[in-house]
Amino acid sequence: MSQAQAVPTVDTNAPAYVKHAKLKAWVQEMVHLCRPDRVYWCDGSQEEYDRLCDEMVASGTLIRLNPKLRPNSFLARSDASDVARVEDCTFICSEKEEEAGPNNNWVAPEEMRWTLKRLFDGCMRGRTLYVVPFSMGPLGSHIAHIGVEISDSPYVAVNMRLMTRMGKKVFEVLGTDGEFVPCMHSVGAPLAPGEKDVAWPCNREQKYIVHFPETREIWSYGSGYGGNALLGKKCFALRIASNMGKEQGWLAEHMLILGVTSPEGQKTYVSAAFPSACGKTNFAMLIPPKAMKGWTVTTVGDDIAWIKPGPDGRFYAINPEAGYFGVAPGTSEESNPNAMAMLRENCIFTNVALTPGGDVWWEGMTKAKPAKLIDWQGKNWTPDCGRKAAHPNSRFTVSASQCPSLDPEWENPDGVPISAFIFGGRRSTAVPLVFEAFNWNYGVYMAATMGSETTAAAAGKIGEVRRDPMAMLPFCGYHMGDYFNHWLQIGHTVGNPPRIFCVNWFRLDEEGNFLWPGFGENMRVLKWMVGRVQGSANAKQTPLGWMPRFEDLDWEGLEGVTRRQFDKLMHVDTELWKQELASHGDLFEKLQERLPKEFILKRELFQLSLWR
Ligand code: OXD
Ligand code: MN
Repeated sequence: MSQAQAVPTVDTNAPAYVKHAKLKAWVQEMVHLCRPDRVYWCDGSQEEYDRLCDEMVASGTLIRLNPKLRPNSFLARSDASDVARVEDCTFICSEKEEEAGPNNNWVAPEEMRWTLKRLFDGCMRGRTLYVVPFSMGPLGSHIAHIGVEISDSPYVAVNMRLMTRMGKKVFEVLGTDGEFVPCMHSVGAPLAPGEKDVAWPCNREQKYIVHFPETREIWSYGSGYGGNALLGKKCFALRIASNMGKEQGWLAEHMLILGVTSPEGQKTYVSAAFPSACGKTNFAMLIPPKAMKGWTVTTVGDDIAWIKPGPDGRFYAINPEAGYFGVAPGTSEESNPNAMAMLRENCIFTNVALTPGGDVWWEGMTKAKPAKLIDWQGKNWTPDCGRKAAHPNSRFTVSASQCPSLDPEWENPDGVPISAFIFGGRRSTAVPLVFEAFNWNYGVYMAATMGSETTAAAAGKIGEVRRDPMAMLPFCGYHMGDYFNHWLQIGHTVGNPPRIFCVNWFRLDEEGNFLWPGFGENMRVLKWMVGRVQGSANAKQTPLGWMPRFEDLDWEGLEGVTRRQFDKLMHVDTELWKQELASHGDLFEKLQERLPKEFILKRELFQLSLWR
């Protein structure tokens, strides 16, 4: 008889308010499999959060920051092998390989279940199993979905409290037979009797982030970091939810949502997709330049949008999350004053540097580097030591309720109406500052062929251009060709689909300098896009789409960008675009059996317009 079949010695002690027999049976089964020393059901209270944090301070997982400088905040340092999402070890285990598509790693479900059984067998020995109930979306909203994460990481439990609506109330919504997505997580580091734990337990050899789309289950092993471990985020709200959306006629997207209010009080909501670590949080919390009097931007979400067709022919979006897990480096009073304000207290920082006074620091936070720090690996650091003080993918976790620009409608269970989709990669060449697609299908083509230079949010090479359709390459839980078809179709199910725009904040000049100042100045581009939606902004037609002329943007108070520089920003280099189109062909070849025919046609038309 395998060890996994042994009768557990721990009580699963479900609180009386948990009335869901299937859920209790699942927890029982997982306790049998993982054999933790204790089982703890999270209630989501402040008292519980404080206690778990205190316990992690005592065990060395968290460092309490100086309460005078950063009240009720903590620093965690991960193992050096566990610093980012692990795309190579991420699997979509659909029944048929072709359903997962070439964009995903696939293993037959039965085989993967054997692997997981072996990995999870006894994997929580010496640890506590936390049961973490959470809602993605406002509790009880018809758009929300519930998950329950089982994890042996208290760091995960407290982060989930900041990132989702977590706790006791979820069981009320679930009742006796409500639907939930089971999310199984272990750091994969069982403790032998008497063995001392490390500050960041994980498994250096084996990491598996596994999704079963048909049965809507998530199994994650070996990592305690970010999207690998906080399973409500990428695993549920994108990979599993994209499958739900395909079946049920909605979209789960890697998009921020923001509201723009004009001086006249007209409100327009837009949703924007940028690949990981391309400034989505900054854009979501943008503060318009002073000279653009009366314009304001409010934040609904910074990373994920669930978007459903509404009864009035528009799309409505909610942010399924309740917090931000943002990239710290580059966040500063200049780039994102709202984020700096929201990070003043009640935060968890991971892999940033520690100052001698007990505060945090990361590259780009201040112009001058501190003279002395403890770096993200706990080593002494000085500006000339040749190492980064914070890991490039270091993060903050903070509740959305602390965001100064939070939109009053952010918890509206019906969502907010979306008037435009914006897609933006990180491209040093070729892609202009902004253009508007001629129509829905063309916009979907442009979004689908979006390329971006890779960043530190995922393990692997940095700086290579990769095609990242809709910024969903690592997150689409099924065949990308089907995803394109879903996008093409859904735009025609509503009478008034959003306009589609493409932007690139990252174009460089010949010397390698950014041509566009970015950050708050992006408001000028946003104003033009909102103007296009509202019918008040002009544009000229180009082979790529509708583009603003110099005089179509608001330049009030911005001297840095000359007409010549603007021309460089907007230039469509025919030779580069011919190459660009050729490389769209590489993507199409990979997806060929399920690629929309429409795309072949669009590419041909596009080619013709360049050759003309
Ligand atoms: C994220 C990511 O953490 O996209 O949001 O990697
Ligand atoms: Mn993201």
